[in-house]
Amino acid sequence: MRTPIIAGNWKMNKNPQQTQEFLDAIKGKLPETSKVESVIAAPAVDLNALTWFSKDEPLKTAAQNSYWEDEGAFTGETSPKVLSEMGIDYVVIGHSERRQYFHETDEDINKKAHAIFKNRMTPIICCGETLEQREAGDTNSWVAGQVEAALKGLTAEQVAQTVIAYEPIWAIGTGKTASADQAQEVCGHIRETVKKLYNEGTAEAVRIQYGGSVKPGNVKELMAKKDIDGGLVGGASLSADDFLALVNYQ
Ligand code: G3P
Repeated sequence: MRTPIIAGNWKMNKNPQQTQEFLDAIKGKLPETSKVESVIAAPAVDLNALTWFSKDEPLKTAAQNSYWEDEGAFTGETSPKVLSEMGIDYVVIGHSERRQYFHETDEDINKKAHAIFKNRMTPIICCGETLEQREAGDTNSWVAGQVEAALKGLTAEQVAQTVIAYEPIWAIGTGKTASADQAQEVCGHIRETVKKLYNEGTAEAVRIQYGGSVKPGNVKELMAKKDIDGGLVGGASLSADDFLALVNYQ
C-alpha cells in the first residue's frame, strides 16, 4: 500500500514572515503522515522555518532544487549535503520551469538524483510533455524517456523510495487540469516504464504524483485513480486553507 503524498510547491513565493504565518495557520491541522504525507517545497530562504516546524508537526520538508556536488565553487547553487544536515526530507528536481528557464538536462537531473540519495534524502522527479507533444501523440514516449534518463544507475531499492511527478506542461499554472483519466493514463505508463526498467515490486512501490492545476475541487477524483499516489501542487498550495483542504482530501 503506497502512502499518499500531497506536496505544495511554492515556487518563488513567500518570505520568512509569510512562511511563518502559513505555518501558524496549519499548525495542528495536518493528517498523520501514516495517512497522508503532507509536504511543502519552499524557497531556500524559508527552509529553516519548515524544518523547525516539522520537528513537532506531521509535515515533511522539501527543497526545490539542489546541485550534484556537496560543496565547492558553484556560486548560487544549493548543497544537497547541507540540505540533508538541515533535516530536509525531499528535493524536487527536473521541474519543467528548471528545464525551460535554467536549461537543466536529463543528465543534470540524473546526477542530482544520485547526489540526493547519497545525502540520505529522496528525490521528487518531475516529468511532463508540452501541448504540442500531446497533440502529436508523443506524450507516453516523451515522459518514459525522461523517467528512464532520470533513473539511470539508481538501484531498485532507491527507485522504490523515489517519487515521480507527472506534470503536463500545458496544465501548469493554466487552470487547465488534465482529466483524471488523462492523468491516470500517463501515470500508469510511468509505472509500466519503471516495471520494464526494474521489476514489478519496484514499480508497485514507487509513488507517482500528478501536478498541473490541482485544486481542492479536483484532488479527490485524481487521487481515486489507481496509479495516482499524490499531487504536486503549485498555486493552490500557497493558501493555508487550500493546502489543508488538499492534504485532508480523504
Ligand atoms: O510543481 C507544481 C506546479 O508545477 C503546478 O502548478 O499552479 O498548476 O498547481 P499549479
